[in-house]
Amino acid sequence: MKFIVNNGGNLSGDIRVPGDKSISHRSIMFGSIAEGTSRISGFLEGEDSLNTLRAFRAMGVSIEGPDNGRVLIHGVGMRGLKKPERPLDLGNSGTSMRLLAGLLSGQAFDVELSGDASLSKRPMERVTAPLQRMGAQVDATTGGRPPLKIAGGRALHGIDYDLPMASAQVKSCVLLAGMYADGNTCVTEPAPTRDHTERMLSAFGCPVKRSGATACLHGPATLTACDIDVPADISSAAFFMVGASIAAGSEIVLQHVGINPTRTGVIDILRLMGADIEILNPSEAGGEPVADIRVRSAPLKGIHVPEELVPLAIDEFPVIFVAAACAEGETVISGAEELRVKESDRIQVMADGLQALGANAQATADGMIIQGGDIAGGRVHSRDDHRIAMAFAIAALRAKGAITIEECENVTTSFPGFAELAATAGLVKRADA
Ligand code: S3P
Repeated sequence: MKFIVNNGGNLSGDIRVPGDKSISHRSIMFGSIAEGTSRISGFLEGEDSLNTLRAFRAMGVSIEGPDNGRVLIHGVGMRGLKKPERPLDLGNSGTSMRLLAGLLSGQAFDVELSGDASLSKRPMERVTAPLQRMGAQVDATTGGRPPLKIAGGRALHGIDYDLPMASAQVKSCVLLAGMYADGNTCVTEPAPTRDHTERMLSAFGCPVKRSGATACLHGPATLTACDIDVPADISSAAFFMVGASIAAGSEIVLQHVGINPTRTGVIDILRLMGADIEILNPSEAGGEPVADIRVRSAPLKGIHVPEELVPLAIDEFPVIFVAAACAEGETVISGAEELRVKESDRIQVMADGLQALGANAQATADGMIIQGGDIAGGRVHSRDDHRIAMAFAIAALRAKGAITIEECENVTTSFPGFAELAATAGLVKRADA
Protein backbone atom coordinates (compact mmCIF):
# COMPACT_ATOMS: atom_id res chain seq x y z
CA MET A 1 0.00 0.00 0.00
CA LYS A 2 1.26 3.47 -0.83
CA PHE A 3 0.16 6.96 0.16
CA ILE A 4 0.12 9.68 -2.48
CA VAL A 5 -0.23 13.07 -0.81
CA ASN A 6 -0.67 16.31 -2.74
CA ASN A 7 1.41 19.22 -1.57
CA GLY A 8 -0.03 22.19 0.25
CA GLY A 9 -2.98 22.64 2.55
CA ASN A 10 -3.00 23.23 6.27
CA LEU A 11 -4.44 21.57 9.39
CA SER A 12 -7.45 22.67 11.38
CA GLY A 13 -10.17 21.31 13.65
CA ASP A 14 -10.56 19.52 16.93
CA ILE A 15 -9.48 15.89 16.68
CA ARG A 16 -8.73 12.92 18.88
CA VAL A 17 -5.97 10.57 17.74
CA PRO A 18 -6.12 6.87 18.78
CA GLY A 19 -5.12 5.51 22.18
CA ASP A 20 -1.61 5.36 23.56
CA LYS A 21 0.22 2.28 22.30
CA SER A 22 2.48 1.80 25.33
CA ILE A 23 -0.41 2.11 27.79
CA SER A 24 -2.67 -0.14 25.68
CA HIS A 25 -0.08 -2.97 25.67
CA ARG A 26 0.39 -2.74 29.41
CA SER A 27 -3.35 -2.64 30.13
CA ILE A 28 -3.80 -6.03 28.41
CA MET A 29 -0.74 -7.57 30.05
CA PHE A 30 -1.51 -6.47 33.60
CA GLY A 31 -5.27 -7.00 33.29
CA SER A 32 -4.62 -10.57 32.12
CA ILE A 33 -2.51 -11.59 35.12
CA ALA A 34 -4.57 -9.64 37.69
CA GLU A 35 -7.25 -11.12 39.94
CA GLY A 36 -10.67 -9.89 38.77
CA THR A 37 -12.08 -8.07 35.77
CA SER A 38 -10.42 -4.96 34.34
CA ARG A 39 -12.28 -2.50 32.11
CA ILE A 40 -10.20 -0.63 29.56
CA SER A 41 -11.46 2.35 27.55
CA GLY A 42 -9.64 4.23 24.81
CA PHE A 43 -7.68 1.07 23.88
CA LEU A 44 -5.62 1.39 20.69
CA GLU A 45 -7.11 -0.96 18.11
CA GLY A 46 -3.85 -1.02 16.17
CA GLU A 47 -2.05 -4.15 15.05
CA ASP A 48 0.70 -3.92 17.72
CA SER A 49 -1.59 -3.79 20.75
CA LEU A 50 -3.97 -6.28 19.08
CA ASN A 51 -1.03 -8.67 18.83
CA THR A 52 -0.57 -8.40 22.59
CA LEU A 53 -4.30 -9.00 23.07
CA ARG A 54 -4.22 -12.08 20.78
CA ALA A 55 -1.19 -13.44 22.65
CA PHE A 56 -3.04 -13.39 25.97
CA ARG A 57 -6.13 -14.95 24.38
CA ALA A 58 -3.84 -17.70 23.08
CA MET A 59 -2.73 -18.21 26.69
CA GLY A 60 -6.31 -18.78 27.83
CA VAL A 61 -7.38 -15.31 28.97
CA SER A 62 -10.98 -14.40 28.21
CA ILE A 63 -10.96 -10.90 26.70
CA GLU A 64 -14.13 -9.19 25.40
CA GLY A 65 -13.82 -6.55 22.70
CA PRO A 66 -12.25 -4.36 21.57
CA ASP A 67 -15.46 -2.52 20.87
CA ASN A 68 -14.92 1.16 20.17
CA GLY A 69 -11.85 1.14 22.39
CA ARG A 70 -13.57 -0.78 25.19
CA VAL A 71 -12.01 -4.03 26.37
CA LEU A 72 -13.04 -6.27 29.27
CA ILE A 73 -10.31 -8.54 30.58
CA HIS A 74 -11.17 -11.43 32.88
CA GLY A 75 -7.85 -11.75 34.69
CA VAL A 76 -6.52 -15.23 35.45
CA GLY A 77 -4.09 -14.28 38.22
CA MET A 78 -0.30 -14.43 38.26
CA ARG A 79 -0.17 -18.22 37.73
CA GLY A 80 -3.28 -18.67 35.59
CA LEU A 81 -1.86 -18.35 32.06
CA LYS A 82 -1.89 -21.52 29.93
CA LYS A 83 0.71 -22.79 27.51
CA PRO A 84 -0.24 -21.54 24.02
CA GLU A 85 -0.65 -24.17 21.30
CA ARG A 86 1.67 -22.35 18.91
CA PRO A 87 4.52 -19.84 19.08
CA LEU A 88 3.14 -16.37 19.85
CA ASP A 89 3.44 -14.25 16.70
CA LEU A 90 3.88 -10.64 17.79
CA GLY A 91 4.02 -9.16 14.29
CA ASN A 92 5.85 -5.82 14.18
CA SER A 93 5.68 -5.17 17.91
CA GLY A 94 8.94 -4.82 19.81
CA THR A 95 7.09 -3.77 22.96
CA SER A 96 5.07 -7.00 22.96
CA MET A 97 8.15 -9.15 22.53
CA ARG A 98 10.38 -7.45 25.08
CA LEU A 99 7.76 -7.06 27.81
CA LEU A 100 6.38 -10.57 27.27
CA ALA A 101 9.91 -11.99 27.49
CA GLY A 102 10.02 -10.75 31.08
CA LEU A 103 6.46 -11.64 32.01
CA LEU A 104 6.69 -15.15 30.53
CA SER A 105 10.09 -16.13 31.88
CA GLY A 106 8.45 -16.75 35.27
CA GLN A 107 5.72 -19.10 33.98
CA ALA A 108 5.51 -22.87 34.39
CA PHE A 109 5.36 -23.55 30.61
CA ASP A 110 7.70 -23.26 27.62
CA VAL A 111 6.82 -20.65 25.01
CA GLU A 112 8.30 -19.22 21.82
CA LEU A 113 7.95 -15.57 20.70
CA SER A 114 8.28 -14.68 17.02
CA GLY A 115 7.65 -11.64 14.83
CA ASP A 116 7.63 -10.25 11.29
CA ALA A 117 10.68 -9.51 9.12
CA SER A 118 11.37 -6.17 10.86
CA LEU A 119 11.00 -7.48 14.42
CA SER A 120 13.12 -10.52 13.52
CA LYS A 121 16.07 -8.18 12.91
CA ARG A 122 15.81 -6.28 16.20
CA PRO A 123 18.24 -6.81 19.11
CA MET A 124 17.01 -9.04 21.93
CA GLU A 125 20.25 -9.62 23.83
CA ARG A 126 19.31 -6.49 25.80
CA VAL A 127 16.46 -8.52 27.39
CA THR A 128 17.91 -12.05 27.39
CA ALA A 129 21.03 -10.93 29.32
CA PRO A 130 19.27 -9.53 32.43
CA LEU A 131 16.65 -12.30 32.38
CA GLN A 132 19.37 -14.94 32.38
CA ARG A 133 20.96 -13.19 35.37
CA MET A 134 17.63 -13.58 37.16
CA GLY A 135 17.75 -17.34 36.57
CA ALA A 136 15.50 -17.46 33.50
CA GLN A 137 16.23 -19.59 30.47
CA VAL A 138 15.53 -17.31 27.53
CA ASP A 139 17.38 -17.82 24.28
CA ALA A 140 17.51 -15.77 21.12
CA THR A 141 19.22 -16.88 17.90
CA THR A 142 23.00 -16.59 17.64
CA GLY A 143 23.21 -12.91 16.86
CA GLY A 144 20.68 -12.16 19.56
CA ARG A 145 17.59 -11.84 17.34
CA PRO A 146 14.08 -13.33 17.58
CA PRO A 147 12.57 -15.86 17.86
CA LEU A 148 12.91 -16.06 21.63
CA LYS A 149 12.61 -19.48 23.26
CA ILE A 150 11.61 -19.34 26.91
CA ALA A 151 11.80 -22.43 29.12
CA GLY A 152 9.22 -22.62 31.90
CA GLY A 153 9.51 -23.73 35.48
CA ARG A 154 12.62 -21.74 36.38
CA ALA A 155 12.94 -20.16 39.82
CA LEU A 156 13.75 -16.46 39.35
CA HIS A 157 15.55 -14.23 41.82
CA GLY A 158 15.62 -10.45 42.03
CA ILE A 159 18.60 -8.50 40.70
CA ASP A 160 19.96 -4.95 40.69
CA TYR A 161 20.29 -4.06 37.04
CA ASP A 162 22.02 -1.06 35.48
CA LEU A 163 20.43 -0.55 32.07
CA PRO A 164 23.15 -0.24 29.41
CA MET A 165 20.84 1.99 27.30
CA ALA A 166 17.86 4.25 28.03
CA SER A 167 15.09 1.76 27.24
CA ALA A 168 11.65 1.57 28.82
CA GLN A 169 11.13 -1.80 27.16
CA VAL A 170 14.16 -3.33 28.87
CA LYS A 171 13.32 -1.65 32.19
CA SER A 172 9.78 -3.00 31.97
CA CYS A 173 10.93 -6.48 30.95
CA VAL A 174 13.13 -6.77 34.05
CA LEU A 175 10.43 -5.38 36.37
CA LEU A 176 7.81 -7.79 34.97
CA ALA A 177 10.14 -10.74 35.53
CA GLY A 178 10.75 -9.29 39.00
CA MET A 179 7.06 -9.84 39.83
CA TYR A 180 7.76 -13.58 39.52
CA ALA A 181 11.13 -13.45 41.33
CA ASP A 182 11.99 -13.78 44.99
CA GLY A 183 13.17 -10.57 46.62
CA ASN A 184 13.78 -7.08 45.28
CA THR A 185 14.28 -6.33 41.63
CA CYS A 186 15.77 -2.90 40.95
CA VAL A 187 16.49 -1.25 37.60
CA THR A 188 18.63 1.87 37.25
CA GLU A 189 18.34 3.86 34.04
CA PRO A 190 21.02 6.08 32.49
CA ALA A 191 18.36 8.68 31.59
CA PRO A 192 14.63 8.88 32.33
CA THR A 193 12.42 6.80 30.02
CA ARG A 194 8.64 6.39 29.88
CA ASP A 195 7.34 5.20 33.25
CA HIS A 196 3.95 3.72 32.28
CA THR A 197 4.92 0.32 33.72
CA GLU A 198 5.74 1.79 37.11
CA ARG A 199 2.54 3.88 37.22
CA MET A 200 0.24 1.11 36.02
CA LEU A 201 1.72 -1.63 38.22
CA SER A 202 1.13 0.63 41.21
CA ALA A 203 -2.50 1.15 40.06
CA PHE A 204 -2.87 -2.66 39.88
CA GLY A 205 -1.67 -2.92 43.49
CA CYS A 206 2.02 -3.74 43.00
CA PRO A 207 3.91 -0.72 44.29
CA VAL A 208 7.03 0.31 42.37
CA LYS A 209 9.32 2.45 44.48
CA ARG A 210 11.35 5.09 42.74
CA SER A 211 14.51 6.53 44.21
CA GLY A 212 16.42 8.78 41.82
CA ALA A 213 17.14 6.82 38.66
CA THR A 214 16.24 3.47 40.28
CA ALA A 215 12.85 1.72 40.22
CA CYS A 216 12.32 -1.30 42.52
CA LEU A 217 9.57 -3.80 43.18
CA HIS A 218 9.30 -6.74 45.54
CA GLY A 219 8.42 -10.22 44.38
CA PRO A 220 6.57 -12.43 44.26
CA ALA A 221 3.83 -9.90 43.52
CA THR A 222 0.10 -10.09 42.89
CA LEU A 223 -2.08 -7.72 40.87
CA THR A 224 -5.67 -6.69 41.47
CA ALA A 225 -7.97 -5.73 38.57
CA CYS A 226 -8.21 -2.05 37.75
CA ASP A 227 -10.03 0.16 35.24
CA ILE A 228 -7.82 2.04 32.79
CA ASP A 229 -8.74 5.07 30.67
CA VAL A 230 -6.13 5.11 27.90
CA PRO A 231 -5.34 8.68 26.76
CA ALA A 232 -4.69 9.59 23.12
CA ASP A 233 -1.12 8.78 22.06
CA ILE A 234 1.23 11.77 22.09
CA SER A 235 3.36 9.88 19.55
CA SER A 236 0.42 9.93 17.11
CA ALA A 237 -0.51 13.52 18.06
CA ALA A 238 3.08 14.52 17.20
CA PHE A 239 2.39 14.20 13.45
CA PHE A 240 -0.33 16.83 13.76
CA MET A 241 1.78 19.03 16.04
CA VAL A 242 4.51 19.18 13.40
CA GLY A 243 2.01 19.44 10.52
CA ALA A 244 0.19 22.37 12.11
CA SER A 245 3.51 24.06 12.96
CA ILE A 246 4.95 23.89 9.43
CA ALA A 247 1.77 24.60 7.39
CA ALA A 248 0.92 28.30 7.42
CA GLY A 249 -2.62 29.12 8.53
CA SER A 250 -3.01 25.98 10.66
CA GLU A 251 -4.70 25.80 14.03
CA ILE A 252 -5.57 22.42 15.49
CA VAL A 253 -6.66 21.08 18.87
CA LEU A 254 -5.65 17.53 19.83
CA GLN A 255 -7.97 16.17 22.49
CA HIS A 256 -7.22 14.18 25.65
CA VAL A 257 -3.56 13.53 24.87
CA GLY A 258 -1.31 11.79 27.40
CA ILE A 259 1.27 14.32 28.60
CA ASN A 260 3.24 12.14 30.98
CA PRO A 261 6.50 14.09 31.47
CA THR A 262 8.51 11.07 30.28
CA ARG A 263 6.79 11.43 26.89
CA THR A 264 6.65 15.17 26.24
CA GLY A 265 10.11 15.66 24.71
CA VAL A 266 8.48 16.41 21.36
CA ILE A 267 6.66 19.42 22.83
CA ASP A 268 9.88 20.70 24.42
CA ILE A 269 11.86 20.23 21.20
CA LEU A 270 9.23 21.90 19.00
CA ARG A 271 8.91 24.80 21.44
CA LEU A 272 12.69 25.27 21.40
CA MET A 273 12.33 25.50 17.60
CA GLY A 274 9.73 28.24 18.00
CA ALA A 275 6.48 26.25 17.79
CA ASP A 276 3.27 27.71 19.18
CA ILE A 277 1.91 24.93 21.42
CA GLU A 278 -0.54 25.45 24.27
CA ILE A 279 -1.58 22.91 26.90
CA LEU A 280 -5.29 23.25 27.71
CA ASN A 281 -7.57 21.61 30.29
CA PRO A 282 -4.95 19.55 32.12
CA SER A 283 -6.42 16.68 34.15
CA GLU A 284 -5.60 13.13 35.15
CA ALA A 285 -6.86 9.81 33.77
CA GLY A 286 -5.92 6.44 35.21
CA GLY A 287 -2.79 7.73 36.95
CA GLU A 288 -1.56 9.52 33.82
CA PRO A 289 -1.67 13.28 33.13
CA VAL A 290 -3.72 14.28 30.08
CA ALA A 291 -4.59 17.56 28.33
CA ASP A 292 -5.82 19.05 25.09
CA ILE A 293 -3.03 20.48 22.97
CA ARG A 294 -3.53 23.49 20.69
CA VAL A 295 -0.98 24.08 17.94
CA ARG A 296 -0.86 27.08 15.63
CA SER A 297 1.54 27.47 12.73
CA ALA A 298 4.74 29.35 13.53
CA PRO A 299 8.09 29.88 11.82
CA LEU A 300 10.51 27.21 13.10
CA LYS A 301 14.24 27.67 13.54
CA GLY A 302 17.01 25.07 13.67
CA ILE A 303 18.38 24.02 17.08
CA HIS A 304 20.84 21.63 18.69
CA VAL A 305 18.44 19.16 20.27
CA PRO A 306 19.47 18.74 23.94
CA GLU A 307 20.53 15.10 24.38
CA GLU A 308 18.54 14.70 27.59
CA LEU A 309 15.36 15.21 25.56
CA VAL A 310 16.17 12.35 23.16
CA PRO A 311 14.75 9.42 25.22
CA LEU A 312 11.68 11.55 26.02
CA ALA A 313 10.92 11.98 22.30
CA ILE A 314 12.41 8.76 20.95
CA ASP A 315 9.48 7.72 18.74
CA GLU A 316 8.87 11.23 17.40
CA PHE A 317 12.18 11.74 15.58
CA PRO A 318 10.94 10.81 12.10
CA VAL A 319 8.52 13.75 12.19
CA ILE A 320 10.96 15.98 14.15
CA PHE A 321 13.41 15.49 11.25
CA VAL A 322 10.66 16.77 8.93
CA ALA A 323 10.17 19.82 11.18
CA ALA A 324 13.93 20.45 11.04
CA ALA A 325 13.93 20.21 7.23
CA CYS A 326 11.27 22.98 7.19
CA ALA A 327 13.01 25.17 9.79
CA GLU A 328 15.31 28.07 9.14
CA GLY A 329 18.94 27.15 9.79
CA GLU A 330 20.71 24.06 11.07
CA THR A 331 19.34 21.38 13.36
CA VAL A 332 21.71 18.90 14.99
CA ILE A 333 20.48 15.70 16.62
CA SER A 334 22.97 13.54 18.52
CA GLY A 335 22.84 10.85 21.19
CA ALA A 336 20.03 9.14 19.28
CA GLU A 337 21.77 5.90 18.16
CA GLU A 338 18.75 3.91 19.46
CA LEU A 339 16.93 5.17 16.36
CA ARG A 340 19.01 2.76 14.31
CA VAL A 341 17.33 -0.27 15.95
CA LYS A 342 13.67 0.77 15.78
CA GLU A 343 11.12 -0.66 13.31
CA SER A 344 13.67 0.44 10.68
CA ASP A 345 17.02 2.23 10.89
CA ARG A 346 15.24 5.56 11.35
CA ILE A 347 18.40 7.64 10.91
CA GLN A 348 19.28 6.14 7.52
CA VAL A 349 15.76 5.74 6.17
CA MET A 350 14.79 9.32 7.07
CA ALA A 351 18.05 10.77 5.70
CA ASP A 352 17.52 8.83 2.44
CA GLY A 353 13.92 10.01 2.16
CA LEU A 354 14.68 13.65 2.96
CA GLN A 355 17.50 13.63 0.39
CA ALA A 356 15.14 12.10 -2.19
CA LEU A 357 12.93 15.16 -1.55
CA GLY A 358 15.86 17.52 -2.12
CA ALA A 359 16.42 18.35 1.56
CA ASN A 360 19.90 18.74 3.01
CA ALA A 361 20.03 15.97 5.64
CA GLN A 362 23.21 14.13 6.61
CA ALA A 363 23.01 10.97 8.71
CA THR A 364 25.58 10.67 11.50
CA ALA A 365 26.36 7.63 13.65
CA ASP A 366 23.99 8.80 16.39
CA GLY A 367 21.70 11.35 14.77
CA MET A 368 21.40 13.77 11.89
CA ILE A 369 22.47 17.22 10.73
CA ILE A 370 19.77 18.99 8.75
CA GLN A 371 19.93 22.37 6.99
CA GLY A 372 16.39 23.66 6.75
CA GLY A 373 15.07 24.78 3.37
CA ASP A 374 12.65 23.70 0.68
CA ILE A 375 11.22 20.21 0.28
CA ALA A 376 10.48 19.04 -3.24
CA GLY A 377 7.88 16.47 -4.21
CA GLY A 378 8.98 12.94 -5.07
CA ARG A 379 8.95 9.30 -4.07
CA VAL A 380 10.21 7.93 -0.74
CA HIS A 381 10.37 4.53 0.92
CA SER A 382 9.16 4.01 4.45
CA ARG A 383 10.88 0.60 4.64
CA ASP A 384 7.69 -0.74 6.21
CA ASP A 385 8.07 1.64 9.16
CA HIS A 386 4.74 3.17 10.26
CA ARG A 387 6.19 6.35 11.73
CA ILE A 388 8.34 7.05 8.67
CA ALA A 389 5.32 6.67 6.38
CA MET A 390 3.31 9.16 8.47
CA ALA A 391 6.23 11.61 8.80
CA PHE A 392 6.61 11.87 5.02
CA ALA A 393 2.85 12.28 4.57
CA ILE A 394 3.08 15.32 6.89
CA ALA A 395 6.06 16.67 4.91
CA ALA A 396 3.70 17.11 1.93
CA LEU A 397 2.09 20.08 3.72
CA ARG A 398 5.27 22.07 2.94
CA ALA A 399 6.51 20.30 -0.18
CA LYS A 400 6.66 21.84 -3.66
CA GLY A 401 5.05 18.79 -5.28
CA ALA A 402 3.14 15.62 -4.39
CA ILE A 403 4.90 12.97 -2.28
CA THR A 404 4.44 9.26 -2.93
CA ILE A 405 5.28 7.07 0.04
CA GLU A 406 5.87 3.37 -0.56
CA GLU A 407 5.13 0.58 1.93
CA CYS A 408 2.49 2.11 4.18
CA GLU A 409 0.70 -1.08 5.38
CA ASN A 410 2.26 -0.87 8.81
CA VAL A 411 0.64 2.49 9.60
CA THR A 412 -2.11 0.34 11.14
CA THR A 413 0.33 -0.95 13.79
CA SER A 414 0.06 2.31 15.73
CA PHE A 415 -2.41 4.60 13.97
CA PRO A 416 -5.39 2.91 12.32
CA GLY A 417 -7.33 5.53 10.34
CA PHE A 418 -4.36 7.91 9.99
CA ALA A 419 -5.02 8.73 6.32
CA GLU A 420 -8.72 9.44 6.95
CA LEU A 421 -8.15 11.55 10.07
CA ALA A 422 -5.34 13.50 8.39
CA ALA A 423 -7.59 14.15 5.39
CA THR A 424 -10.35 15.40 7.72
CA ALA A 425 -7.84 17.79 9.28
CA GLY A 426 -6.73 19.09 5.88
CA LEU A 427 -3.93 16.93 4.51
CA VAL A 428 -4.52 16.68 0.77
CA LYS A 429 -4.52 12.97 0.15
CA ARG A 430 -4.75 12.14 -3.55
CA ALA A 431 -5.16 8.39 -3.36
CA ASP A 432 -3.82 5.38 -1.62
CA ALA A 433 -3.30 2.15 -3.45
C1 S3P B 1 8.15 1.63 24.34
C2 S3P B 1 9.44 2.03 24.56
C3 S3P B 1 10.31 2.61 23.51
C4 S3P B 1 9.53 3.03 22.28
C5 S3P B 1 8.49 2.02 21.88
C6 S3P B 1 7.51 1.76 23.00
C7 S3P B 1 7.37 1.07 25.45
O1 S3P B 1 11.25 1.65 23.12
O2 S3P B 1 10.40 3.27 21.21
O3 S3P B 1 7.78 2.47 20.74
O4 S3P B 1 6.14 0.95 25.33
O5 S3P B 1 7.99 0.74 26.48
P1 S3P B 1 12.68 1.50 23.90
O6 S3P B 1 12.35 1.29 25.29
O7 S3P B 1 13.33 0.32 23.27
O8 S3P B 1 13.39 2.78 23.62
